[in-house]
Amino acid sequence: MDSASPQNSPVLPPDRLRAARRLFIASALSFVVAAALGALFRFGMLRGDFFGLQAGDLRHAHSHLMLMGWATPALIALITARAPALGLQLPLRATLSTGWLALVLAVLSTPAFALYGYRSAAIGEANIPIAAALSGVAMLVWYAFAAIFLFALRRAPNPHTPNPARSLLTIATGAMVVSSAGAWALAAQMITKSGDALSQQLAVHFFVDLFGIGWLLVGALALLRAETSAAASATESRARWMLLIGLPLVFLAGMPAADLAPRILLIGHLAAALSAAGFMALSLPLWRALKGWRRVALGLVMASALMLAAIAIPPVAQWGQSAGLRLFFLHTAFAGAVTLALISVAARTFGPSRSPAPATFALAIALLLITLLPLTGLMPTALSGRWVLVSALAGALGATMLSALATLQALLPRTTPSPTPSQAPRQQ
Ligand code: HEM
Repeated sequence: MDSASPQNSPVLPPDRLRAARRLFIASALSFVVAAALGALFRFGMLRGDFFGLQAGDLRHAHSHLMLMGWATPALIALITARAPALGLQLPLRATLSTGWLALVLAVLSTPAFALYGYRSAAIGEANIPIAAALSGVAMLVWYAFAAIFLFALRRAPNPHTPNPARSLLTIATGAMVVSSAGAWALAAQMITKSGDALSQQLAVHFFVDLFGIGWLLVGALALLRAETSAAASATESRARWMLLIGLPLVFLAGMPAADLAPRILLIGHLAAALSAAGFMALSLPLWRALKGWRRVALGLVMASALMLAAIAIPPVAQWGQSAGLRLFFLHTAFAGAVTLALISVAARTFGPSRSPAPATFALAIALLLITLLPLTGLMPTALSGRWVLVSALAGALGATMLSALATLQALLPRTTPSPTPSQAPRQQ
């Protein structure tokens, strides 16, 4: 029987919980800044000029801050806060320090990405690829987190009692470490100006897909799993194997079909099918156990799994690529499933008035996703026009303002003492 349940699992002492919450709120502020960069990108699309910046650099600044400054440190904050439910004894300071360092490095590299991308900038006599260098240091911080996690796994109080949430987190942490190979490969190609467009694209897809789907989406699912007291099952263990085999190869299915040999592409489609089946098998049994916004977050995990299942079918995958659905898929998985899982678990962990409101964030995400759809090939050509870019800008601006509102509300000083999680009213 999994002991992970918010009702019966031990919680961190209030001072430790406060420390984790500080990191979570700081990460949420990064979300707001990254969302504003996304809105700036949309404004640039409308004007046909990106304020003197290169569109790709601005996109990088946004996606890097979202992945490294929001989702990663927020996940680390919640892993720390929910450590008892995950059957782990994590050293509080060391674990949170990795989250803070990841956050600070992401924030520092954001202007560098926006101004120079991966290119070198002249600093005095020297030419330094600032963003790539800071990203390299950030990856060392991930390794530090992974080492702390591994150490805690080995010292887990009940290492032989099955804990499905902990097992999922182990896969997630492994995916984070392995995905970094893609980031190193990309940085090396950029700095040495070697490699062709295909090898760069392979490196980007390997990194973004494994980091986003493996580390963030599986990590978010682990947190949702830790919210329930359902017993560990054999199906779950099989499903984890599917993720383990499928996730490292799923990136191949997202590559343009013309660039890869059919056999290699087939491996990618099979990996997408395995990953989709794994996510579904792990999510479905949680549906009844989770309520409120955590259930909505789980629904978005399943929606992401369905999109992965669609990518498993070669003609559908090719159509999705030509229709520009990759961006929609990434945002359903990362902005939808991952973000709402983090926000809804935070509301339960830190108390609803002490963390950003899930309802406001859900509205922000809905606005973003709805206004992304007309940008895809799903929109009939007869209906397309300038309004599509205007609505995408409005959606991005709306999402930025709503996320800022929710985050700032969580920062407002309270007149009454903040409830501890056990006293905090349950979110539906
Ligand atoms: C309010 C929320 C958000 C807004 C307004 C937003 C906006 C954008 C925009 C405008 C782009 C560039 C699109 C293009 O190239 O046409 C983009 C790309 C991207 N975004 Fe977001 N986004 C949001 C949330 C997120 C979140 C939460 C994540 C991850 C945790 C994320 C990850 C990415 C990634 C990885 C890309 C690059 C995709 C690629 O190059 O293939 N975004 N986003």
